[in-house]
Amino acid sequence: MGNDRLSTDHLLGIKYLTAEDIQLIFETSDNFKEVINRPIKKVPSLRDVTVANLFFEDSTRTRISFELAEKRLSADVINFSASSSSVKKGETLLDTVNNILSMKVDMVVMRHPAPGAHHYLSKHISANIINAGDGTHEHPTQALLDAFSMREKFGDLAGKKVAILGDILHSRVALSNIFCLQKLGAEVAVCGPPTLIPKFIHKLGVKVSHNTRETLEWCDVANILRIQMERQDIKYFPSLREYARYFGVNRQLLDSLNSEVVIMHPGPINRGVEITSDVADSDQSIILQQVENGVAIRMAVLYLLAARRS
Ligand code: CP
Repeated sequence: MGNDRLSTDHLLGIKYLTAEDIQLIFETSDNFKEVINRPIKKVPSLRDVTVANLFFEDSTRTRISFELAEKRLSADVINFSASSSSVKKGETLLDTVNNILSMKVDMVVMRHPAPGAHHYLSKHISANIINAGDGTHEHPTQALLDAFSMREKFGDLAGKKVAILGDILHSRVALSNIFCLQKLGAEVAVCGPPTLIPKFIHKLGVKVSHNTRETLEWCDVANILRIQMERQDIKYFPSLREYARYFGVNRQLLDSLNSEVVIMHPGPINRGVEITSDVADSDQSIILQQVENGVAIRMAVLYLLAARRS
């Protein structure tokens, strides 16, 4: 029989989860996915638990998905956005969080531009912390929902070949996906221009390629990432047009392959750059299933971490 408790009080990164933790999150998500497809989508699991969603960086999917997950679990929810807060007046991260926690908050979901911000916080506060993205470091719930979506498609991921294409250098999704997929026994490749692939990434045991066609011929799943312009202070490639030509995934390219590849993208999409609309919106794409699965995954993470409190 498997464990029914996570091995950790926080979700700081996939790096700190065991394969058993990931399987437990998936099995719990299976149950919550069934719940959120019922006419009555709410369960009382987190009644009297207060969750603060602290977003120091922009978000559409992750923020809404966490809020919905919390509400489906009957938690009390407060939302904080750095752009409309006293952070602008010079308040530190720890002061901001401690002030919010003094209002009797039990769990913190946080997105922050600084890699490691959640680790720092976990040393100073007693609330459970969930990393909703820390700079270019990790985005664990995205990797969990990505792997859960692949599991729905293929069953066991052991031996499956997953390619992550695009701006790997600035991506927190890439690192969390690599850790998660390898813990589940999948093979991982990264592909993009040499300037957007970290120099020592092969040391993580991933295949490295700069050839999009060869990578797509190799893989069962292509997880396509956008170029993170907001994190780039120098030019990493000549133009978006040239990037789309050599590294973009389009219908013509997919149709010329020997087998059908499952297409994924964490969003937000830059249509016509890393992926064309006829690929993103095709039957080969499971992009919207990823978003749907995000709610069940986040319900499972919140539920399992709350259970560590009792
Ligand atoms: N995938 C993802 O993290 O999207 P948002 O930035 O919109 O939350």
